[in-house]
Amino acid sequence: MTTHDKTNKEYDDQTQIKYIGGHDYDGIRELDNRLPPWLKYLFYLSIVFAAGYLMLVFVFKDDSILQELEYKKEMAALQQVEEQQKEAAPVVVKERSREDILAAGQETFTKICSVCHGKFAEGLVGPNMADEYWIHGGSFEDMKRVVLEGVIEKGMISYKNQLSNRQIDDVLIYIQSLQGTNPPNAKAAEGDKYVPEATAE
Ligand code: HEC
Repeated sequence: MTTHDKTNKEYDDQTQIKYIGGHDYDGIRELDNRLPPWLKYLFYLSIVFAAGYLMLVFVFKDDSILQELEYKKEMAALQQVEEQQKEAAPVVVKERSREDILAAGQETFTKICSVCHGKFAEGLVGPNMADEYWIHGGSFEDMKRVVLEGVIEKGMISYKNQLSNRQIDDVLIYIQSLQGTNPPNAKAAEGDKYVPEATAE
């Protein structure tokens, strides 16, 4: 025999089992057991925790919880470390030796320029670049302008897109180092004699 109390709970007098009234699904009935204490206290604890957590986030704005503040704090710390490092170790610009520059320049020259200017810059299709005579001027800037812009109608293309600025500088320094080397089979001088300013006086 079952009795109903005022909250619609059912109580089986024989088995002393409590049911939730009306929760009967194809004979499967929902029991009205008390929560085990550990679960109940865990539940109360989670409420207390949530209250504390909300206080930290919205009232005290604790930066160990708010990612944004934590991020700012970390970045500030990083910046400080970086500044300290900068002071401790001044930036060392790695100097390339003249040998390195000439070697790199020679590589480019042999690979690209020698086809027209000769293996020793003695001149072939292109003019001799081991002598003092230059069609477009013999200063570094003059040479660089020719390499960057090209003299397309004469067959000297622009190397602006093929070589990096450093590669161009290297190859021109290499070419300058060939001045006065009198290579064999030198092509006849073309253009005007160029005298570097330092020795022009
Ligand atoms: C396809 C052939 C060809 C190649 C490859 C070539 N050149 Fe030239 N270069 C020429 C010709 C031709 C001229 C002469 C242009 C003129 O008569 O105005 C010239 C002129 C020059 C001049 C000016 C010389 C002067 O007397 O004023 C420089 C500097 C020069 N080349 C550098 C280079 C460099 C550096 C390279 C390699 C990155 C190179 N050239 C590759 C054909 C070439």
